[in-house]
Amino acid sequence: MREKIVAGNWKMNNTLEEGVQLAKEVNEILKKNAPKCTVILGTPFIHLADVVRTVDSKLVKVSAENCADKEKGAFTGEVSAAMVKSTGAQYVILGHSERRAYYHETDEILKEKVNLALANGLKVIFCIGEVLEQREAGKQNDVVKAQIENALFHLSADDFAKIVLAYEPVWAIGTGKTATSAQAEEIHAFIRSIVAKKYGQKVADDTTILYGGSCKASNAKELFAQPDVDGGLIGGASLKAADFYGIIEAFN
Ligand code: 13P
Repeated sequence: MREKIVAGNWKMNNTLEEGVQLAKEVNEILKKNAPKCTVILGTPFIHLADVVRTVDSKLVKVSAENCADKEKGAFTGEVSAAMVKSTGAQYVILGHSERRAYYHETDEILKEKVNLALANGLKVIFCIGEVLEQREAGKQNDVVKAQIENALFHLSADDFAKIVLAYEPVWAIGTGKTATSAQAEEIHAFIRSIVAKKYGQKVADDTTILYGGSCKASNAKELFAQPDVDGGLIGGASLKAADFYGIIEAFN
């Protein structure tokens, strides 16, 4: 059975104090209501060490939202995979559409980031997804296939097993416009099929594929009930503990 995951992506929200408070609240809720899935908090770099200290590591895992594409050295303002790892975080989100669009992260850059994250013992939540124009042109499968092939398919099967995929249609992010469960299932099944072609059915069956994009308590249950949807990557609804728990609860 592959791992089910609900992961928050706080993006650029929360002061240090607010973030620690939110992590504390999530942790408290989960202490009383044991989750039936892995729960991950994706936080800005500055929160990582404090959030790791705040939560019970058996209940909540911690993820960065990015890391550098260089190992170390004169790269002012960057944060390396080794630094992320040293905070106690276990995951890093890479390839988010906001990083691709606003910070010009290409498949080549992402490949470097993936390699450094894995070399430093981090697991990777790797985001893929098409923009509206590409969906309207019926190109969504080609887009996600190329994103996966270019940044991940150089990995060994052992390393690929440390990757969680997150399908996030860009048109659904922060728009309130969720993919239908049928749309999500169709492309998740396609993604699993290309993983199977490359690494074999066993690896594909073990790969966790999350859905992201306006996922909330009211639609999570139906999305997560799809056979190839293994959980969610949650933006807006991860910023309030009760809302986030409403999504985690979809697995109960
Ligand atoms: P929203 O849940 O706010 O649509 O964001 C999704 C997302 O981008 C998670 O990475």
